Amino acid sequence: MARKKITVAGAGNVGATTAFIAAQGQLGDIVLVDIVKGLPEGKALDMAQAGPLCGYDCKITGTTDWAQTAGSDIVIITSGMPRKPGMSRDDLLAKNTEIVKSVAEQVVKYSPDSFIIVVCNPLDAMVNAAAIVSKFKKNKVMGMAGALDTARFAYFISEKLGVSVNDIQCVLMGGHGDDMVPLARFTTVSGIAITELIDEKSIEEMVQRARMGGIEVVNLMGTSAYYAPAAGAVKMAEAILLDKKTVLPCCAYCDKEYGVGGYFVGVPVVIGAEGVEKVIELNLNQKEKAELAVSIEHVKELTDKVKKML
Ligand code: NAI
Ligand code: 2OP
Repeated sequence: MARKKITVAGAGNVGATTAFIAAQGQLGDIVLVDIVKGLPEGKALDMAQAGPLCGYDCKITGTTDWAQTAGSDIVIITSGMPRKPGMSRDDLLAKNTEIVKSVAEQVVKYSPDSFIIVVCNPLDAMVNAAAIVSKFKKNKVMGMAGALDTARFAYFISEKLGVSVNDIQCVLMGGHGDDMVPLARFTTVSGIAITELIDEKSIEEMVQRARMGGIEVVNLMGTSAYYAPAAGAVKMAEAILLDKKTVLPCCAYCDKEYGVGGYFVGVPVVIGAEGVEKVIELNLNQKEKAELAVSIEHVKELTDKVKKML
């Protein structure tokens, strides 16, 4: 069987780290594509030279020529400006819309049968942009944010309880912004509801910290996170390539689901060989519904602005 081919658009912090984690997971051959001559070539060469030490033998190519991405199974779009201190994800809207549009056009041209996983921000609006430009089937376009946001929430819970991070399962919904909705009620430690283990005030503090998880890292190092975001993108790619039927929150197309009305927003889904195979509809309470409505409204506002720019 031919090896799978994964293109990572953007050889910056998130893109290069995504390529490196995908290589270590032996997910397939990797093409790193950027607009800055030398950057993707250099990083790909360095990563290929780590192969004998890390034990992977996939082909890693760096290029500024999209023709080399032809026939990719998955394209992960990380190309876009990251946040600096004082910037919100929404500040990135105009520039990153332009970038996602040009990248999606290349994806259509060279890998018309691929799946697209968008990472660049503002995430939900950029997923909508990639879907509009590519015209790919809705299940084949998705965005990585919930995997990261739940990983952050899980990490805070594991620290608080002094238990393995692997035993924590979280659900989170809404857009990838400060109004995202971590769902404590559906979060467990090996099946035990966290409400049984942690007091309400501490849970609320961790919910807030998860919401602000991105800016916490930006304020520490002057640019946005990349290890955990890259790991989130690779987890989604792996779910597709290995048909894992992984359940995680991701930015997926919802029409009747949650009454969204035809936008990509963060919801729990099943990801497998068909991409987003199912949106899982939870029975939310009034407070959760109200918080989700605020977050979805924000996604719609940004997406409607983006639609005018395309
Ligand atoms: P970075 O600045 O390190 O890398 C971005 C790369 O994209 C640069 O190398 C740049 O040359 C390249 N690029 C720009 N236009 C391009 C084009 N048309 N084609 C190919 N490459 C192009 O930024 P970083 O830290 O890697 O972040 C990338 C994006 O991911 C940002 O928008 C950031 O906000 C977002 N992000 C999203 C997360 C999420 O949870 N969804 C988490 C972390 C970052
Ligand atoms: C993050 O959450 C900035 O979206 C990016 O780290």
